Parts: sequence; structure tokens; C-alpha cells
Amino acid sequence: MSELRDLIVEDHRTVEALFLAYETGGQNQETVDELCSLLARHMRLEEDLVYPRIEQVADGVSLMLEAEREHLAAASLIERLRHESDPDQQAVLLLQLKQAVAQHVIEEESELLPLLDTAVSEADRSALAQAFAGAREAAV
Ligand SMILES: [Fe+2]
Ligand SMILES: [Fe+2]
Repeated sequence: MSELRDLIVEDHRTVEALFLAYETGGQNQETVDELCSLLARHMRLEEDLVYPRIEQVADGVSLMLEAEREHLAAASLIERLRHESDPDQQAVLLLQLKQAVAQHVIEEESELLPLLDTAVSEADRSALAQAFAGAREAAV
């Protein structure tokens, strides 16, 4: 079973690869759809499984609130993207989303995930990893 942090980081790299594929692959609509669903699913799983644990940890509340704020901003951009058919406007929204996600991913990987490693027991992390992987699988 993969570590929880590996599953989360794996999603981050996939999302980054999809942004790159969009930029280099002629702004393909399928790529936009895939990126939006993957990112929305990733954020939902973090909100359901990971952030509630972070909230219980000392120093975790402010990190979690900041992360949730960033998710809301990303979710609103995803919603606008899903209703935008003009390719130029889509490109603008995708650039905004890419920048927002990049900043969020840096904070998550440098602050939030290390906190999870130190403050949550290995057994709990393993159970969370199993739930994360299972829900990710089911949502495909
Ligand atoms: Fe994440
Ligand atoms: Fe996140």
C-alpha cells in the first residue's frame, strides 16, 4: 500500500502534467475536462479524508483553513471553466487555475504533508491511504 503522501503527490504531478499537455497539445478540450475532473476529485478527497485530520493537529487549524480557502478559489475557477466555451477565455482561466494550484501545491507539500507525517500515527496514515486510494479508484 502506498503512503498517503505519495498518493497525494502523485495526483499533484498528474495535474501538472495535464496543464503542460494543454499548453503543448493545442489546447485540447478533452485535456481540460480531464484536468477539471481529476483536480475536483483530488480536492474532494483531501477535504473528506485529509484536512479533518490536519485540523485536529496542533498548528494544523490555520494551515487547514488556508488550504480550504485555496480549494474554494480553485473550485470556482473549475466551475467557470466548465461553462466556458470560448477557447481564449478558457486559456485565461486555465492560466489562473495553474498559478493558484502551483501555489497551493507548494504549501501542501512543504507544510501540510510533513505535518501529517509527524502528527498522525503510521496506522492512521495507512488507513487514510487505503481510503484515499479506494475512493480515487471508485470515482474514476
Ligand atoms: Fe493536494
Ligand atoms: Fe489541496
